[in-house]
Amino acid sequence: MSISNTTRTVLVTGASRGLGAAIALELAATGAHVAVNYFNSAVAAEGICQQITAYGGRAVAFKADVRDEDEVARLVQEVEASLGTIDILVINATGPQPFQSIEEQTWRSHLDQLEFFVKSPLLLLKAVLPGMKQRGFGRVINIGSEVFELGNPRFANYVAAKGAQLGLTRSWARELAPFGITVNLVAPGWIPVERHVDAPQREIDAYTAGVPMQHMGLPVDVAKAVAFLASDGAGFITGQSLAVNGGNTLN
Ligand SMILES: NC(=O)c1ccc[n+]([C@@H]2O[C@H](COP(=O)([O-])OP(=O)(O)OC[C@H]3O[C@@H](n4cnc5c(N)ncnc54)[C@H](OP(=O)(O)O)[C@@H]3O)[C@@H](O)[C@H]2O)c1
Repeated sequence: MSISNTTRTVLVTGASRGLGAAIALELAATGAHVAVNYFNSAVAAEGICQQITAYGGRAVAFKADVRDEDEVARLVQEVEASLGTIDILVINATGPQPFQSIEEQTWRSHLDQLEFFVKSPLLLLKAVLPGMKQRGFGRVINIGSEVFELGNPRFANYVAAKGAQLGLTRSWARELAPFGITVNLVAPGWIPVERHVDAPQREIDAYTAGVPMQHMGLPVDVAKAVAFLASDGAGFITGQSLAVNGGNTLN
């Protein structure tokens, strides 16, 4: 299904693997031209682009550290020179997410998460905003997490940063609505990706026992929600958080 009558250009950060790769593949399948951002995994990012071009889509891989102001400015310049001005921004990249008690946590460990979920979104939005405002169209989709609703223990730095990302979403949505730019957040539950390959089955069973749908989600479940919010048809939806977690935060 196409998301627009116009060919859209999308930047997906952290799209070399995990949820970002699924989002890139899904948006490319809707006809969008996709910038696949990566940091370390060049071969994987090229592999995602090859999958897209194999079925007639258009995708290019771009290396950049999305926490660095100069690299974000260069990234957006390179994407726009190669694929056209960015209509849709998916803020997805994440670094390591270690579980730590309050005693183990430091201000530095909080900054580590805030750099991905506050600093990087700010840098990215500021870089794409002139083009979106000029065209009177934009879709900004933050990838948040259900953990903000659940308040997971030993995870306060990540939970707080994901909460802050929701705050950005809500404030940006109100400020940018007059310009035809929507800002929303997709909040996945635990969706196993490559980095969860060693997750013990008992942990998966314990998680799914609490999920009303009684099973784990797939990366494509998240990707479909992102594609909907990126579509022209979602133009009257802004400032929202959409949980993709089988009903895990229904209470
Ligand atoms: N999977 C889940 O269960 C889950 C649940 C809730 C929320 N989320 C959220 O969903 C998003 C994606 O998570 P994921 O599980 O798919 O992560 P992941 O599989 O660990 O992938 C992380 C991605 O971010 C990229 N990345 C890391 N550091 C970067 C940097 N400095 N600059 C640019 N890119 C960088 C990685 O690229 P390289 O490999 O090239 O370094 C990779 O493509 C995150 O925002 C996460 O918080 C995930």
